[in-house]
Amino acid sequence: MKDLLCIAHRGASGHAPENTLLAIEKAINMGAPWVEIDVQLLEGQLVVIHDPTLDRTTNGTGLVETCRLADLRLLDAGRGEKIPLLSEVFDLISGRCGLNVELKGPGTALPTLALVQSLVGQGLLDWSQLLISSFNHHWIKQVKSREPLCPVAANLCGLPLDYARFAYGLGASSVHFDMEFIDVALVEDAHRRGLMVNVFTVNREEDLERVRQMGVDGVFTNYPELVLNKG
Ligand code: G3P
Ligand code: MG
Repeated sequence: MKDLLCIAHRGASGHAPENTLLAIEKAINMGAPWVEIDVQLLEGQLVVIHDPTLDRTTNGTGLVETCRLADLRLLDAGRGEKIPLLSEVFDLISGRCGLNVELKGPGTALPTLALVQSLVGQGLLDWSQLLISSFNHHWIKQVKSREPLCPVAANLCGLPLDYARFAYGLGASSVHFDMEFIDVALVEDAHRRGLMVNVFTVNREEDLERVRQMGVDGVFTNYPELVLNKG
């Protein structure tokens, strides 16, 4: 059986508060080769949080974009964890796993690119350990057109009539599909176009087997143990 790539979704978020340094460290300790996190821009800083609001994952309330950065950094994102800055995530990982940065909020593409270019320039990051992705394919194009060396991926929640054609011209190395919509034709079309297929978010054994049968290459999971060491 083909090995599936394990991407710890928002860190090992089934075991620790999502998108925190604790969840990322947990994923690394569990042996996940890749971690995915979500970023938004606030006062020029890249902050690691999924929702546009603070309510679900922190002890704060309201929109992220109307919160002061200093106040956001005082919030509890679970078990006393702070909402990390993207730079802190890179510091923590220090080459121990790959990082998939999902651009969630407007204005994140160029600051993310500037940060990773600086890290690569300092020898602190290798392009092979990075993947920038988004549901907003314009942002992906923005990154790839400015930095052809930067690996990018296009996310999609749906099943287009022309399958994976949307990824044409983006320079993406992989496509990330919602498991509710994928079928074999989509996976095969992506493969024909030279794209790796990773699927989110696979947290149950039966879903893992279903997408494995379709021939996907990797899965995003909150539970890395579901995928790791299972040939
Ligand atoms: O990047 C894959 C996956 O994280 C996309 O969905 O909503 O969990 O960010 P979401
Ligand atoms: Mg995400």
